[in-house]
Amino acid sequence: MHEGSDDIIDTKSSERFAFVVVSNRLPVDRVERGGKGEWQHSPGGLVTAIEPLMRANGGAWIGWPGIADREFEPFESEGSWLVPVALTEREVEDYYEGFSNGTLWPLYHDVIAPPAYHREWWETYVEVNRRFAEQAAAVAEDEGTVWVQDYQLQLVPAMLRQLRPDLTIGFFNHIPFPAYGIYSQLPWRRQIVEGLLGADLIGFQRNADAGNFARAVRRLFGYSAKGTIIEVPDERAGGGSRTVIARHFPISIDAQGYEVLAEDPDIRRRAVEIRRELGDPKVVMLGVDRLDYTKGIGHRMKAFGELLAEGRLTVEEAILVQVASPSRERVETYKALRDEIELTVGRINGDYSTIGHQAISYLHHSYPRNEMVALFLAADVMLVTALRDGMNLVAKEYVASRVDEDGVLILSEFAGAADELKSALLVNPHDIDGLKDAIMTAIAMPKRERAIRMRALRRRVLEHDVQRWSTSFLQVLERTRPAGAPSLVAPDASDDSAE
Ligand code: G6P
Repeated sequence: MHEGSDDIIDTKSSERFAFVVVSNRLPVDRVERGGKGEWQHSPGGLVTAIEPLMRANGGAWIGWPGIADREFEPFESEGSWLVPVALTEREVEDYYEGFSNGTLWPLYHDVIAPPAYHREWWETYVEVNRRFAEQAAAVAEDEGTVWVQDYQLQLVPAMLRQLRPDLTIGFFNHIPFPAYGIYSQLPWRRQIVEGLLGADLIGFQRNADAGNFARAVRRLFGYSAKGTIIEVPDERAGGGSRTVIARHFPISIDAQGYEVLAEDPDIRRRAVEIRRELGDPKVVMLGVDRLDYTKGIGHRMKAFGELLAEGRLTVEEAILVQVASPSRERVETYKALRDEIELTVGRINGDYSTIGHQAISYLHHSYPRNEMVALFLAADVMLVTALRDGMNLVAKEYVASRVDEDGVLILSEFAGAADELKSALLVNPHDIDGLKDAIMTAIAMPKRERAIRMRALRRRVLEHDVQRWSTSFLQVLERTRPAGAPSLVAPDASDDSAE
């Protein structure tokens, strides 16, 4: 946590950096309470992966501080130089809530909700992307490396290349990239692909996402895209071309950090206490999601409600704990989803809860990581039933926390994590009968089988942690740099991204 930056002296504003990360959000949020402002560190996966690189290379991070109509000077935090990008209230509405979360988010998640196409949203998206690109151009040193993150900033790579052709530019898309039949709905489909092709390396979560992108490039521009290599015509190459690499690098978590918490006696005591507070049921099932329509929260509640209705489960033996953290609350589809989920919870609880036993414990909050680990340890069955998800890090957090090699993960095959976590019980969340059977299988699974599956899952998550993700991405990015440019990552770290 930091003091308000209003009084921090800006001593470094002309300094330039060898390594620059650009993402919609900064690793800190500006929180204003009772007339006092402070910076709250958000210890997300990306932050834990990138902070050590920042410290080692003297990096800068460019992003929005999460609050509209406020300007802040750059400042230092946890070894990174943070450069806040100001957005007006209207820009938050049109660029963030509108084009990013009302157009791109539903489109890229296979139109689970209908995307809205508004020209004003697009125009603001272009303007705001330009502002991020200009900031990056201003702080990156000669021949530096810039790593742009996620769907909110897809135009930044080409804009930045235009401003600073000397830079090496990486882009990572944290969400899915849809099949061309869906992507082609986008009125600005050419501009977005062109924006991304400004990067030297474009990373995706799944092999299928990288394939969808390469097909979009071929269909829209006719460029050669073979395997992971795309040849993009380049005026500067005198009629020749630039090579862009597009391939998958599945993101992960700080697995060791979760293990350490899961061994902590206080957190283990808290896990026992949680089960007691829930009335010591035989089975605790858990869902943890941002309250988002891509997560299939309603599908899992429907399955659980039917199991109760049929008497295959009772509230005395099983409870579903659903943590739904508030998200994008001013976007219409999210408001409607909240109403729908809360109606479902009310109905199921009204129909099946008893005075002593609740069917669903619904928590519309976010919790600190310690409490999350205690919940993971308390849960016999973890339900990840996303209808579409770039990766789903909660699945990996559950696995990393189960140092006792117990617990069963039910995982949607539509989450990126399903490519790696093959020893989970994989489900199609649209198939409610299949989902119900998977829940019953998980509950009845013998201890030995639970341990075998969890051991396999843990091996994968612990070996492929977020550190390995960032290192392998940056290694491939470095290979695209001109010979002799300074290196950001140790050359001996293994490159295994293409698994
Ligand atoms: C997803 C996106 C991130 C985003 C996060 C939270 O994981 O890939 O880019 O930051 O959701 O959403 P928010 O809109 O609150 O930033």
